[in-house]
Amino acid sequence: MIRIGVIGAGSWGKNHVRTFASLEGAELTAVADERKEVRAVIARQYPGTHCFDDGAALIAAPHVDAVVIAAPSPVHAPLARAALEAGKHVLVEKPLALNVRDAEQLVEASRRAGRVLMVGHLMLYHGAVQHLKKMLDDGQLGDLLYVYCERVNLGVIRRDENALWSLGPHDLSVALFLMGAEFSDVTARGAAYLQPNVHDVVFANVRYRDGRMANIHMSWLDPHKSRRIVVVGSRKMAVFDDMQAQEKIRIFDKGAERIPATVGFGEYLTVRSGDILIPKISQSEPLRTEAEHFIACVRDGVRPQSDGRQGLDVVRLLEAAQRSLESGGRPVSLDAAKVGR
Ligand SMILES: NC(=O)c1ccc[n+]([C@@H]2O[C@H](COP(=O)([O-])OP(=O)(O)OC[C@H]3O[C@@H](n4cnc5c(N)ncnc54)[C@H](O)[C@@H]3O)[C@@H](O)[C@H]2O)c1
Repeated sequence: MIRIGVIGAGSWGKNHVRTFASLEGAELTAVADERKEVRAVIARQYPGTHCFDDGAALIAAPHVDAVVIAAPSPVHAPLARAALEAGKHVLVEKPLALNVRDAEQLVEASRRAGRVLMVGHLMLYHGAVQHLKKMLDDGQLGDLLYVYCERVNLGVIRRDENALWSLGPHDLSVALFLMGAEFSDVTARGAAYLQPNVHDVVFANVRYRDGRMANIHMSWLDPHKSRRIVVVGSRKMAVFDDMQAQEKIRIFDKGAERIPATVGFGEYLTVRSGDILIPKISQSEPLRTEAEHFIACVRDGVRPQSDGRQGLDVVRLLEAAQRSLESGGRPVSLDAAKVGR
């Protein structure tokens, strides 16, 4: 039984509490939250669980083997570091840290402590993203040409991070997972309409060294809720629409082909529009799959799919995109020698 302590049981952290409390192989032993009303709810719902008013006290508790950090992002790095140094395994919400230096130190702290460091890149545990990855690996979509993502909604409007840092880790981690880390540069443009210097809407474009690209639209100031990832391959195209209850992925047998000219030399391009396939995908709750993976990694000493290194790469992308944003959209190169290692 791995004894779990959750730090931060707010609107997202309460889902971690619920999930770990019902997970085989895990025992929810402690929850920390600064808010009294949150602790009161936890004490009522999970009577055997120790409640702390601060994350540091939970980390020091002897009856906790692994810590889940779902407090706001500015405290991710200090809490994760303290937990690793106290010999605990850590699952930290995205983003891993708010700068590359802190993220690097966490990866190093996890290596030194010999403890698991996993980042809550939830989308990697979504059946649809797993399905897309398998289709790409099997060559069913052909060569991956480009990806674009839309993650827009009205709210949740944050004060301590902008739309890039709040929403971007989801799609950037998917881009890393599907396309690898051979980035060339990133550009980002956006605007802060509601609060000074906190961008509400950001358009980011990540270019790969071989010409592939990932384009991401993030906003909490939008009339409709959209969670879409479109993957354009040389043979087929796929659309993952997370707002659909059932048919989350559609595969379009569409593309453009070079046909040798029958008369004369050369070739011409023709478009092909074939069937649309709706594959059956796993319906399991991504957070549950993520939590199960964390428990398995702690138990078996396995490296998580969204490990500290992946969290660090996402922070590298975020930091570069932030620099581009602040310079009005200038391309910011990514150091090929560092990313993906
Ligand atoms: N993976 C996802 O899909 C997803 C979705 C939403 C939020 N998140 C992440 O989860 C984190 C929390 O977001 P939220 O929307 O739940 O925020 P929230 O403000 O609703 O909750 C945060 C909670 O943490 C508590 N807290 C703050 N500092 C603390 C400390 N030092 N010790 C103990 N408790 C502390 C607060 O009292 C609050 O109850 C953020 O990092 C966010 O990026 C992830």
